[in-house]
Amino acid sequence: MSDMQNGREAWASRIGLILAMAGNAIGLGNFLRFPVQAAQNGGGAFMIPYFVALLLLGIPLMWVEWSIGRRGGQLGYGSAAGAFGALVKSRGSAKLANYLGALGISIPISFAIYYTYIESWTLAYSTFSVTGKYFGILDRASMLNFLQSFQGVTNSEHFAGFGTAIVFFLITWALNVYVLSRGIAQGIERLAKIAMPTLFIFAIILVARTWTLGTPSPEMPENSIINGFGYLWNPDFSQITKAKPWLAAAGQIFFTLSIGTGSILTYASYLKRKDDIALTGLSTSITNEFCEVILGGSIAIPVAVAFFGLTETKEIALGGAFNLGFAAMPIIFQKLPWGQLFGAMWFVLLFFAGITSSVALCSPAMAFLQDQMKMTRKKAAMVVGAVLLLCGLPVIFFLGHGFLDEMDFWAGTFGLVVFAMIEVILFAWLFGMKRAWTEINEGADIKIPGVFKFIIQFITPVYLIGLLFAWGVQDGVPVLLMTGKPSADVPYLWGARLMMLSLTVISIVLIARAYKRGTIRDEVAPDLRG
Ligand code: PHE
Repeated sequence: MSDMQNGREAWASRIGLILAMAGNAIGLGNFLRFPVQAAQNGGGAFMIPYFVALLLLGIPLMWVEWSIGRRGGQLGYGSAAGAFGALVKSRGSAKLANYLGALGISIPISFAIYYTYIESWTLAYSTFSVTGKYFGILDRASMLNFLQSFQGVTNSEHFAGFGTAIVFFLITWALNVYVLSRGIAQGIERLAKIAMPTLFIFAIILVARTWTLGTPSPEMPENSIINGFGYLWNPDFSQITKAKPWLAAAGQIFFTLSIGTGSILTYASYLKRKDDIALTGLSTSITNEFCEVILGGSIAIPVAVAFFGLTETKEIALGGAFNLGFAAMPIIFQKLPWGQLFGAMWFVLLFFAGITSSVALCSPAMAFLQDQMKMTRKKAAMVVGAVLLLCGLPVIFFLGHGFLDEMDFWAGTFGLVVFAMIEVILFAWLFGMKRAWTEINEGADIKIPGVFKFIIQFITPVYLIGLLFAWGVQDGVPVLLMTGKPSADVPYLWGARLMMLSLTVISIVLIARAYKRGTIRDEVAPDLRG
């Protein structure tokens, strides 16, 4: 592989591509979001809807996104704006498809805006672990206070300093912009080659430490690692007939596999025509699942049960991912020999998981600016950087008003399902399943079972429609109407929506410009093999 083709960047090596794709998928979702979702939704019973969603949504959509991306890349399109249009047969619908592709820029960039902020906490907490800053804070309430003072949400005597949070955000931001400015092979791929092996090693060390914990306090034998695993894996079947774990599991699959944002699509656009996607797409999914279910599932929750007991762990899980990762874990590290080291490993691991995902979230915007707006890579990185910084400010300053959560619902949960729905309809129905299947299997290193043809065409779309409907009813309507939100927060939540909407409108305007410049053309579903 060389790192240029048709004037576009390309991956330099297959191993680099695999690590970068794994880096894209493996993120905070694997180590923070997954354990909490599983624990909140019936432990072992959650895993049934989870694996069903993996099989019927995750893996099929992974192939779909890789295919749309690889095809788009051949035609000079690195994002959905362009790649979508290249799937349909008539000019009018190509235009519509490309404008819908605006979501493939605005959703991931909105996602990146709040994701980089959370990522910066992990960097801050890495240094707090090394310097022992939170050492001496021994109960959860105080540790939560420490976190909240760091986030600028409260002032407490356990002061971590909001200023510190801002400094770490700026460092994280600069690192992201730097990697993006270096490009695909020299930036993203090189980062992945360092970050991913380190992440695996640290995770394996932490898992080994967990497994050897046994029963930390002999006077409380029920607080053990075994019971921790039991809590996570013994199915609570009373949950399985409810909609909630099914929706949560599907949401987790989207989030963790990075599907439905367009970032996989962009990474795949740097492939060559004959590069395999069947096997590589599948291995990305499997690697991610190993990191999530085996590694992610073996650290935070089992350790929390061993140290805090079952009842308190349930409480922690209900308090959310940040409560577990940033308040419960730092207490546990203090109880371990070499705690500062283990703490640092945990947070560095999270940071590496985070940064390889945040650059992925920025990549559709990067690709669009380079390919369609003809910006240089450096200039594109500056523009994306400016957006991250400016839009990051309200996320940072209005955290306590629910700004981040609002973005997480629209850009990190609901938007992914909507976008995936557009993708699968375009690909399986408008492009046509026959050609779609040929496309997926082009250059394939494995033979995908034929049943997936049926799944992609019928099951996945129907599943998505069902999800959107159930979700709309259960969460969408209350979130839309801001039911139960403190009235003081309402203006901030509108602010978050307005910001995401503006990013979408800007993307649409830019797409119109790209049409004018001729950098997006409505080819009539060109046949690449001819
Ligand atoms: N998959 C990443 C995680 O698990 C998040 C992500 C979503 C990254 C979508 C890129 C695109 O944290």
